[in-house]
Amino acid sequence: MSDSNTERDLAEATSEASLRRTIARSAEIEREITNDPSPFRVLTGDRPTGNLHLGHYFGTLASRVALQQRGVETFILVADYQVIADRDGVGPLQERVYSLVADYLAAGLDPERTTIFAHSAIPELNQLMLPFLSLVTEAELRRNPTVKAESADAAGRPMSGLLLTYPVHQAADILFCRANLVPVGKDQLPHLEQARVVARRFDERFGRAVADHPVFRAPEALLSQAANLLGTDGAKMSKSKGNVIELSMGADATAAALKKAVTDSERTITYEPQRRPAVSNLVLLAALASGRDPNDVAAEVGDGGSGALKKLVTETVNEHFAPIRARRAELSADPGYLQEVLRRGNDRARAIAVTTLDDVRTAMRMRY
Ligand code: TRP
Repeated sequence: MSDSNTERDLAEATSEASLRRTIARSAEIEREITNDPSPFRVLTGDRPTGNLHLGHYFGTLASRVALQQRGVETFILVADYQVIADRDGVGPLQERVYSLVADYLAAGLDPERTTIFAHSAIPELNQLMLPFLSLVTEAELRRNPTVKAESADAAGRPMSGLLLTYPVHQAADILFCRANLVPVGKDQLPHLEQARVVARRFDERFGRAVADHPVFRAPEALLSQAANLLGTDGAKMSKSKGNVIELSMGADATAAALKKAVTDSERTITYEPQRRPAVSNLVLLAALASGRDPNDVAAEVGDGGSGALKKLVTETVNEHFAPIRARRAELSADPGYLQEVLRRGNDRARAIAVTTLDDVRTAMRMRY
């Protein structure tokens, strides 16, 4: 075997091993949360680029609500500044931000327990960018797989400085509130690693505000176990492909979208995600919406074929989302309330950011 092969194999083995460790550690964290949620603080967020859909709901929203119910303190960031990393304009940003807040609350996030705030409203968080940028190299940023993927998605346009430095903002988002837990998918582990690196290097280079502990704590990943829902055409969910069902859609629009869903020519319904992705995705959706096992759902539909499957998916989805949609409609009709929720979240997040920046200034000897 050539040296370069050995090197590559080693690298793969190392990253496989580290993934296995992360998976094991996530399971351990789950047990720790069940025992005592109080040592944990979660930070996560979304870009306000459009309405949330069922992929978001079953992928991340539902698990955020579950963490909240288990008593974990959670911060949810509306990443409005991040919208301009890979596009020229911001679009109807204000509407989208309030729509996102409405989606959050309708899905069950409780603003008394979960802090929902906007990136742009926290100047002290953004000020962390300057010291943090001094702690990373340009080469390191260019190697970041998340940056590479985002840049590939940006349809061939040149990479903006903001996109290049986007892992550093995400580090600031996580570190400013001293979150120690970030729910992520596998593909986002590199950005979490970047946050850990920044926290450690800050300690090495600038030292501490209080002698016995670093200014920033190193966050850990909570790996998502959520099943990956596809679009109604069996391809990756994407608004631009018109294959998504949004939380804000009504029962009729949902029925129409599911009626057009792609299936295949085999009569009997089974759950075989590899061999029959489109059909299996519909089975999975019905299973998620009704809290059942996909194999049981497939067995129940069986020879009923795709007609019966679509009918079942439509019923289960519309039933599960009826209260959520009703609540969403109420919330959308009350912009003053949504504004108030965001204002209170901003105030809470900002108070924490002020304290953190104060410690940063002390450590950096910039107290005047
Ligand atoms: N990048 C995330 C998205 O595309 C949003 C986000 C911004 C985020 N900062 C974060 C997620 C920090 C987790 C942690 O939606």
